[in-house]
Amino acid sequence: MEKTKFGYKEIDQKDKPSKVNQIFTSVSNRYDLMNDIMSFGLHRFWKKQFLRLCNLSDKKNILDVACGTGDIALAIKKQKNSINLTCLDPNKEMIEICKQKFLNSGITDIIYENSGMEDFKLLKNKYDLVTLVFGFRNFTNHEKGLRNIYDCLEPGGLFLLMDFKKPRNEIYSTLFKNYTLKIIPKIGQIVADDFESYKYLGESIQTYFLPEQIEEMCLDVGFECTKIVNLLEDVATIHIARKL
Ligand SMILES: C[S@@+](CC[C@H](N)C(=O)[O-])C[C@H]1O[C@@H](n2cnc3c(N)ncnc32)[C@H](O)[C@@H]1O
Repeated sequence: MEKTKFGYKEIDQKDKPSKVNQIFTSVSNRYDLMNDIMSFGLHRFWKKQFLRLCNLSDKKNILDVACGTGDIALAIKKQKNSINLTCLDPNKEMIEICKQKFLNSGITDIIYENSGMEDFKLLKNKYDLVTLVFGFRNFTNHEKGLRNIYDCLEPGGLFLLMDFKKPRNEIYSTLFKNYTLKIIPKIGQIVADDFESYKYLGESIQTYFLPEQIEEMCLDVGFECTKIVNLLEDVATIHIARKL
């Protein structure tokens, strides 16, 4: 049986999707509030920077993978309403909050796919941009997920991925480790009454790939012109890759 990481644990691949799903079901109601508290609001700036790099002016068909409660998806539609947008997420509760936010904003022309990226029955060469923000860590089969992203992009299409990384400076990295492993679960306990889910979050950051490994994985599935953009705080990275 193939194994995969689930925080610090090694588990059977077949068990990971349901375990990850339980976590997001559990945190969904407090997800947005927790993001603001845990990142001191910084995730908003990172997402703005991410959107700038998406260069929406020439985009028509976008897939937002791991849309969660819809931060990126909503920002895309608010910036350019004419875009055909598909929101994909395997978690029913998270995607439901995303739907609700779109409805509250009067936006009704979104396609929702309740699926993991690895299982997405994809339309080949359909999108000119695929976005994936803070979701890649949760995949079970990263290679298959990336391959599917590659296949559903049209030639010339762009893939942007943002996720956490460990800071390069040793002292800062130790502080960040203590923050993710010791403080975040306690905040999760107080704010969301959920220590275990936020323990997973911290562990999944600490056991996540290095930016260079992600770049290598992108190149392996066929992407070219890859670029790594380190965000100022050095705890998150944006990957840009093109399908030629
Ligand atoms: C940390 S949230 C990120 C949500 C949103 N993109 C944001 O930045 O706020 C991670 C999301 O990844 C989703 N997810 C988990 N496994 C996935 C998979 N295999 N494919 C696509 N999305 C997945 C979860 O359901 C969850 O909504």
